[in-house]
Amino acid sequence: MTDLPRHVAIIMDGNGRWATSRGLGRVRGHEAGIRTVEQVVEHCARRGIGVLTLYAFSSENWQRPPAEVGALMHLLRVFLRRETARLRRNDIRLRAIGRRERLEPVVREELEEACRRTADCSGMVLNLAISYGSRDELTTAVRRLAREVRAGTLDPDAIDEECLTAALDTRGLPDPDLLIRTGGEYRVSNFLLWQAAYAELAFTATLWPDFTTAELDGILADYGRRERRFGKTSEQVAS
Ligand code: FPP
Repeated sequence: MTDLPRHVAIIMDGNGRWATSRGLGRVRGHEAGIRTVEQVVEHCARRGIGVLTLYAFSSENWQRPPAEVGALMHLLRVFLRRETARLRRNDIRLRAIGRRERLEPVVREELEEACRRTADCSGMVLNLAISYGSRDELTTAVRRLAREVRAGTLDPDAIDEECLTAALDTRGLPDPDLLIRTGGEYRVSNFLLWQAAYAELAFTATLWPDFTTAELDGILADYGRRERRFGKTSEQVAS
């Protein structure tokens, strides 16, 4: 019997479909998605989850129509402005992974300011994946290690899993135990590919704006009933 996951990661899919099925523009779906974000963040903190990683904007999302990209960036700023005080009250520390340098300076500054303002919080870590792609993260990490090798500060034979893990944006965070995807698609979309090697996967057809804390509790309960073997046998895990 496994208990609560230490790290939950969520691919929040389905905002666009939620909106178009109501005859609304896609951005209205993202706005509705923010409300779910707020509820899920507070709920996870209350339940005692250690780290919650939310896939808010992928490297590939830059290819969306400029108006949608602009709206998502605007919503991120709205979220940061509205939520930072509440994060502090709930003792939640904000962190971000992804290519910050691709963000507009004003968005980047607000993100960094929110991270700074919650830096002394010691409860849950809310880790926002923004302008994030796992292949991009891995490529950047490998490039960094290669530079160290060239500089003579790293022996190639010393490069092990731990070393690569420490070169990723997620350094210092435990690997995700549970990866949830809403919106009815069955893929991982370039999200935490290295870190989620042994994550339990949970897929739901519920579109992100309709996702509730009750459904999350159901997924957490199901996770608690799974046997995590990490390549070992049931007998080994039980002993
Ligand atoms: C995927 O739905 C969702 C996104 C690309 C963005 C997720 C963003 C939010 C939930 C709001 C912003 C979040 C924060 C933390 C500020 P989709 O647009 O691909 O939906 P579809 O598959 O139905 O088209």
